[in-house]
Amino acid sequence: MSKILGVSGSLRKGSYNTALLQAARDVAPDVIGIGSIRGIPLYDGDLESEGMPDAVLELKDKIAVANGLLMVTPEYNNSMPGVLKNAIDWLSRPSGDIRNVFRGKAVAVIGATPGGCGTLLCQNAWLPVLHALGADYWSGGRLLVPGAGRVFDEGGRLIDDSVSERLDRFIHNFIDYIA
Ligand code: FNR
Repeated sequence: MSKILGVSGSLRKGSYNTALLQAARDVAPDVIGIGSIRGIPLYDGDLESEGMPDAVLELKDKIAVANGLLMVTPEYNNSMPGVLKNAIDWLSRPSGDIRNVFRGKAVAVIGATPGGCGTLLCQNAWLPVLHALGADYWSGGRLLVPGAGRVFDEGGRLIDDSVSERLDRFIHNFIDYIA
């Protein structure tokens, strides 16, 4: 069982955020597992009434048994991407399950962007959502990755020593927090 479940908020094959998540997992492969939002449909109350989609149930179970959640999120229009917010909305259903899935769960938020601000506004935008879910937002570190086009190579490998050091410190501090 992973202690931390990492989830990327991008579905793109060449995603910088998925690459950042993979680099985070490489820091502590025995502790960090990877979950996916792929296959989660757009939230629709009628669909929910017919039964929870398998992709939602699978991710929900993985988060519920993890001690921590690492959200690696792109920034869209100074906020969070719809696909990840949509996934979190599904994961918060039925509302009675929020207690098992999110309440008191240590959640760290990081992100990468080709832009200059490193997903700062997106990270801040997640705060009211995590608050609504009763999650334990971990503010013991901050990892902003601007200029992502220079930070990863074409294969998605992290090639920037400074980001690598900051990621290493962030992940180890988060692991210490949930231990
Ligand atoms: C973006 N992008 C972007 N970047 C940023 O730093 N701040 C922003 O507000 C936005 N807004 C935005 C809106 C939309 C609709 C798109 C599609 C993109 C650029 C974004 O950071 C870039 O596409 C990243 O590469 C997305 O992350 P992944 O897919 O590489 O993980």
